[in-house]
Amino acid sequence: AKVIFITKTNDAVEVEGDSGSLMELASANGVAGIDGDCGGVCSCATCHIYLTPDDFKKVGTPDEIEGDMLELDDNVTQYSRLCCQIEVSDNIDGMTFRVAN
Ligand code: FES
Repeated sequence: AKVIFITKTNDAVEVEGDSGSLMELASANGVAGIDGDCGGVCSCATCHIYLTPDDFKKVGTPDEIEGDMLELDDNVTQYSRLCCQIEVSDNIDGMTFRVAN
């Protein structure tokens, strides 16, 4: 899948991958603002992104643990996800994600 991250400074970074989590793909490509401090176990929220409403529907809502973690972030919105909890697959091909922090 090919996806685009828009960073806080409005840079568009296109990345490509077939497996692993979206957080791993972003960090491997040095996307600014995706720190992945906890290594992808849903306990840091340094991989917080915003999806478009349509993409959010396709990707799905956060589970309870992810939702609790997101709520600790002041910048949470109804289209927030932690990208370590999103699998890289064809399902997300062509999507654009905005880095939250
Ligand atoms: Fe820590 Fe996603 S990398 S919550």
